[in-house]
Amino acid sequence: MRVAIVGATGAVGHELMQVLERSSLQLDELLLYASPRSAGKELTFRSRPHTVQVTPEGPIAADVILASAGGSVSKALAHRWAEGGGVVIDNSSAFRYDAGVPLVVPEVNGEAALSHQGIIANPNCTTAIAVVAVAPIHRKYGVKRMIVSTYQATSGAGQKGMDELLEQTHMVLHGKEASHHEFAHPIPFNVIPHIDAFQDNGYTKEEMKVVWETHKIIGDDSIRVSCTAVRIPTLRTHSEAITLELERPASPDEIRALLAEAAGVEVRDDPAAKLYPMPLTASGKYDVEVGRIRESLVFDGGIDLFVSGDQLLKGAALNAVQIAEYLQTHGALKSAQRA
Ligand code: A2P
Repeated sequence: MRVAIVGATGAVGHELMQVLERSSLQLDELLLYASPRSAGKELTFRSRPHTVQVTPEGPIAADVILASAGGSVSKALAHRWAEGGGVVIDNSSAFRYDAGVPLVVPEVNGEAALSHQGIIANPNCTTAIAVVAVAPIHRKYGVKRMIVSTYQATSGAGQKGMDELLEQTHMVLHGKEASHHEFAHPIPFNVIPHIDAFQDNGYTKEEMKVVWETHKIIGDDSIRVSCTAVRIPTLRTHSEAITLELERPASPDEIRALLAEAAGVEVRDDPAAKLYPMPLTASGKYDVEVGRIRESLVFDGGIDLFVSGDQLLKGAALNAVQIAEYLQTHGALKSAQRA
């Protein structure tokens, strides 16, 4: 099988290569694409140098095309890439809300991937991390309302976001004033309740993505979802405080037992031992950490919990590769035309 990465030099591209090295995909050849700025650059995969090429504007001769070069690039080119016969698994928001494009988290709605027409969308990172924990609860107890407050790492803005955190922190520590390019305000020693553009209803687009994408992935528009999305000065891994109102009451012990069996989840919940989800422990991990599971003081029989999930992995690269693995396991990967 031949796999292509579009956006190979970016933060998610880097993680895609790491995840592919450990993946069960029967990968024979890897093609790497980025902008003309990176053409000719060499990246190492399976201990061998691979040359980065300029992203094609026409069909890509690969069975799986993992795209993470931003929404405008995908919007303009993804349909053309898929004309090579392979499937595009797109990390941007360009196609997530299109009716004919499945939006997939394999643990939750893997079967949706099987009905693709050339493009499968990888969800927004915050939503992907949340639904891994919330979908099993919804299946058993029925989620009526879901209130989310996020603590999102700078990795959500790509490599440039992480670089800005490090560089600007260095500036501040040396008595200089921090500037900002990737974020609405300086990020060091700050917390910014503004990710993506404000919408007419006062929510940001990032917050509305959590609403729209939770509905599409779980397949239930009746869940009332509200989100406050906040950028914090960490390098990677998003955390989220989630409050759930349930149709059928559940105790914290029942939720702990349910999530202990759930795919993609690691229950990390022993406050007496100072064990709970944190970016420091969840970074680099495939599973989403879930903890601080307790009874809601607001909704009778409801639940409060806290999750930390690596945005670059389950929120992006890992989920994309898991979609490809799901297609392979179900015999649904077509062979692309060879150039
Ligand atoms: P490049 O490194 O050549 O700019 P990140 O999200 O970490 O910023 O990464 C974005 C990725 O998307 C990088 O690999 C970047 O390549 C790539 N990219 C950005 N613009 C384009 C473009 N117009 N065509 C193809 N790839 C692009």
